[in-house]
Amino acid sequence: MEKLALVTGGAHRLGKSFALTLARLGYDIVLHYHSAVEEARQTQGELESLNCRVILAPADLTQPAEIQSLVSNLQSLDVLVNSAAFMPSGNVESLPLETWDTTLDLNLRAPFLLAQECAKKMTAGGLIVNITDVGAQKAWSRYPSYTVSKAALESLTKILARALAPKIRVNAIAPGLVLQSDIVPAEEWERLISRVPLKRPARSEEVASALEFLIKNEYITGQTIVVDGGYSLI
Ligand SMILES: NC(=O)c1ccc[n+]([C@@H]2O[C@H](COP(=O)([O-])OP(=O)(O)OC[C@H]3O[C@@H](n4cnc5c(N)ncnc54)[C@H](OP(=O)(O)O)[C@@H]3O)[C@@H](O)[C@H]2O)c1
Repeated sequence: MEKLALVTGGAHRLGKSFALTLARLGYDIVLHYHSAVEEARQTQGELESLNCRVILAPADLTQPAEIQSLVSNLQSLDVLVNSAAFMPSGNVESLPLETWDTTLDLNLRAPFLLAQECAKKMTAGGLIVNITDVGAQKAWSRYPSYTVSKAALESLTKILARALAPKIRVNAIAPGLVLQSDIVPAEEWERLISRVPLKRPARSEEVASALEFLIKNEYITGQTIVVDGGYSLI
């Protein structure tokens, strides 16, 4: 039987790169998405052309019941990649409570609940990889809920690594700048890129290759691999 990996937020962008990397390594994929149904179907086709079996799994991961039903359908699991996240901007003075809660529910509580549920399915051992952000180690005052969620996710990574050892390893990957999103205006993105020591964003595949490294090196747990072109130095 092929090994099985669950990738959250796998329909497009970075999550898709994680899914493609896993497919090339021989995994079948449970491809989670939330609203990007068209992109999920297209990615399914690309994965299938790599001889990968794909299960499409829509779920709102801010809802614990949806997490439970997503995982309860699986017989066994080998790898979980927690990539889905929400990055709202907002000032500390005016950030709505609902925004705070949604960010923490998706970026922190969901990876915790997914780890709890998926660990039960990793009967032959497994690997959990949480996608954080170089911002986890910074004080990004324009993204308070996001920054806190990623810092806490790195803390959770260490706690899970200890709690789930020796059968399950738990690590994080912290990208710097990879893919621009609507929330960051073009001029701001260019300004940020110019400050990064390596003067360019990461290619998605460069971030996904850290996942391949974590799969292949079976003696690493509780660590965060930073893939940021030197962003954390500034
Ligand atoms: N992009 C970058 O440069 C960058 C840099 C540093 C860190 N990261 C981290 O890398 C990861 C991927 O980033 P990205 O930029 O590729 O992704 P993104 O564009 O921020 O997409 C986020 C993903 O989260 C999913 N999502 C949103 N709300 C959801 C909900 N309520 N329930 C379940 N899923 C939900 C979306 O699914 P649908 O689209 O299907 O709705 C989407 O696939 C994130 O953890 C991000 O924090 C990204």
